[in-house]
Amino acid sequence: MSGSPPDPSRRRFFRQFAGEVVTSAAQVVGAVAEVRDRSAAEAQALLGGVEPVVSGPGTPGARAGARGILERAAGGAAPSGFRTPFRFDAADTLLVIDQRALPDELIELPVHNAYDGARVIREMAVRGAPAIGQVAALSLALSGWLARNAPPRSRDAIVRAAAKHLAEARPTAVNLGWAVRRVMAAYDAAAAAHDAATAVAAHDAATAAKAGASGPEIAAAMRAEADRIVFEATDDHGRLAEHGFSVLPDVGDRELRLLTHCNTGPLACGQFGTALGVIQVAHHAERPLHVWVDETRPYLQGARLTAWELAQAGVPHTLIPDVAAASLMAAGRVDAILVGADRVAANGDVANKVGTYPLAVLAARHGIPFYVCAPISSVDLDTADGAAIPIEERAPDEVTQVRGRRIAPDGTAVWNPAFDVTPAQLITVIVTEEGVLHPPFEPALRAAADARASRRGPHAGPRPGPHPGAVEPAPA
Ligand code: MRU
Repeated sequence: MSGSPPDPSRRRFFRQFAGEVVTSAAQVVGAVAEVRDRSAAEAQALLGGVEPVVSGPGTPGARAGARGILERAAGGAAPSGFRTPFRFDAADTLLVIDQRALPDELIELPVHNAYDGARVIREMAVRGAPAIGQVAALSLALSGWLARNAPPRSRDAIVRAAAKHLAEARPTAVNLGWAVRRVMAAYDAAAAAHDAATAVAAHDAATAAKAGASGPEIAAAMRAEADRIVFEATDDHGRLAEHGFSVLPDVGDRELRLLTHCNTGPLACGQFGTALGVIQVAHHAERPLHVWVDETRPYLQGARLTAWELAQAGVPHTLIPDVAAASLMAAGRVDAILVGADRVAANGDVANKVGTYPLAVLAARHGIPFYVCAPISSVDLDTADGAAIPIEERAPDEVTQVRGRRIAPDGTAVWNPAFDVTPAQLITVIVTEEGVLHPPFEPALRAAADARASRRGPHAGPRPGPHPGAVEPAPA
């Protein structure tokens, strides 16, 4: 495997929103706001002036066609795409694209608090490990804001219950607990400072007034941490994509044929994407390539979302039934397989969308490199190996039905695991924002997590500690 050096003139595409020198919280928030503003504007531009429809309890059945996006892509419009599957509206309501309706319709669901956030995550309106973490962080911050004027003990109970509820929304993507823990750490730090001020205030009316104003400040600290998570993902995924690009196989002048599974693009990640980010960097570096897109039964993230994102980005691709991947590999028509991860265990075992493990077995059989593209936020050093990763099982109707239409006999028994575990031995490299990791993965993952922590500071790594779902509300 030889590396093609990244074309520096192309880096701007992946750096323009990331900002290379961001150190203060104020700068971070500004950068995030810019990402959001641009995303909203791009969404409208892509839709040819059609506003995405905000759907909610008051607007049942409201829909807008999203076909204009593909038509524009087909018509040679500049490659683009959503850089985030969510945005804030003016009223501090998080609007989340309902990915279940794509590619036919663009619907945005309003999220006002952590319970709304947990619902859109659980029901997979938003999905993909990094995006799940970001929506969890932002919706928890919204709950903190709603509780800002509550008495401190009530506020504490409200915020902790919200964190617990969110953390339980889906079990496998470790980014969810990681993001909730980070926002709760910001909450704890701000609340502790507030409580100290309140203790002083008992003897000092002026300080008491100041302490009374701290509910909004605590909420602001939660929001700042959530914004930081979103911003860091933008930067991290851009780095990851460039690292991944540098190790793509050298196949001479012919086109590079990559196979991918599920959806790992901006819809799944909030920004550039992981495996799909690598593919987009290669495309923007004008490397001839063709992508085989697994349809990804049963939820069809490949057919509905990856094909849609690649079409927007102008990347040549072909959709295949998952079961056709073996024949393609046997025929020598796949040069590398790129997938994402929902959780990377300490030993390098990887949980990802069900169907990933069979691809890795086939890749080993046919001598094809198998790349896992995962930010450090998807690494769980507290979980020793894949056997300890909780695998989500989802409802039978995802298998017995296709988009609401039953295809199996009524009452058919179903086993529907959403993920599977690929053993570390089948993985060629793990691509992270800290570089490309080779086996043995455990020391490499620990070093990469340390490198990220020192680059970002103490609050930005996978931190061992109790899962927020296990944290009891403080005694009243
Ligand atoms: O069930 P989903 O759609 O949330 O599963 C998503 C995946 O398995 C992705 O491959 C994974 O989250 C990585 S996204 C960068």
